[in-house]
Amino acid sequence: MRVLAIESSCDESAVAVLDRQKGLLAHELFSQIDLHRIFGGVVPELASRDHVRRLLPLVRTTLEKAKTRPAELDGVAYTAGPGLIGALLTGAALARSLAYAWRKPAIGVHHLEGHLLAPLLEREPPPFPHVALLVSGGHTQLIEVRGIGQYQTLGETRDDAAGEAFDKAAKLLGLPYPGGPELAKLATGGKTGKIKLPRPMLDRPGLEFSFSGLKTAVLQASREQELTPQRKADIAFAAQEAIVETLVAKSLRALEQTGLDALVVSGGVSANRFLRDRMTEAVGRQGGHQRARVFFPRVEFSTDNAAMIAVAGLARIEAGQLETLAIKAQARWPLESLSAVGP
Ligand code: KG4
Ligand code: ZN
Repeated sequence: MRVLAIESSCDESAVAVLDRQKGLLAHELFSQIDLHRIFGGVVPELASRDHVRRLLPLVRTTLEKAKTRPAELDGVAYTAGPGLIGALLTGAALARSLAYAWRKPAIGVHHLEGHLLAPLLEREPPPFPHVALLVSGGHTQLIEVRGIGQYQTLGETRDDAAGEAFDKAAKLLGLPYPGGPELAKLATGGKTGKIKLPRPMLDRPGLEFSFSGLKTAVLQASREQELTPQRKADIAFAAQEAIVETLVAKSLRALEQTGLDALVVSGGVSANRFLRDRMTEAVGRQGGHQRARVFFPRVEFSTDNAAMIAVAGLARIEAGQLETLAIKAQARWPLESLSAVGP
């Protein structure tokens, strides 16, 4: 079983070919960062137009690198949502058309299911069931994952997503888009304990998050005294620490509450080194039940990519979950509405 996958939900155009036996044969990605940078964020219309330009050449290159002819494919997977509707439509229309021309099935994949399943590409994949912390630009959720397609939300953010919190704090400090990785870079020169920022919801029971208060606190800290390069780095450190500490504490709480001993951390923010280190340390130290373990996707598959869409697509095509010829794209799509794959 071999599938071609296309991802175009936001500002990355990506294509991958995944084989059930041989693994990932090729994956290509074109990032639109340079295109959106002068606007300080993603401009949806520009994103759609650029996907139209990039996707088909990327499909060609990826098939070449995977040494795969269309006839050797068993299906085409594409991101059908959630995301920017125009951007989604470009990938969905292309994937559906290629599948039609090649006489193959096609399947619309849930972008967040892609993120959740990305660690399955690693040599040591996570066991099921597990708890997943999904932290991306638009989502922050703790999910109980009983199997592929079996997702139950345990808690989520009441306002901003963790990625959004990184991006907004970065913007307030005058950093360019995309803010998350820029803030993380600046934070490496920062010192701990210099600035105190709130950790909302940490003192309350439950598995909900709230990050919207952080920007006000960052804004205040940046105005309190002269914003020297060192002070800026200290604020970046404090902001990153506040977000990460909250994510770690709630993830531990979710493990405890469910009694599960495996944690997956995925989505764009899981690329963050500080989060990876703190989470690994904390989960390793956790007592109570048997030692828990944490699983991450490799860093390049933390942020948007097509390899993860291929994992989800392959599982569903393999399970015979065929769809009509309709081009499927939806900006909103609840994760819990997905159907289970397998027992
Ligand atoms: O999963 P993703 O690539 O796209 C969405 O599905 O949203 O996540 C993008 C988010 C952005 O908010 C970005 O700033 C954040 O992930 N991000 C990071 C890092 N790399 C990406 N945040 C903190 N540290 C990073 N190294
Ligand atoms: Zn994503």
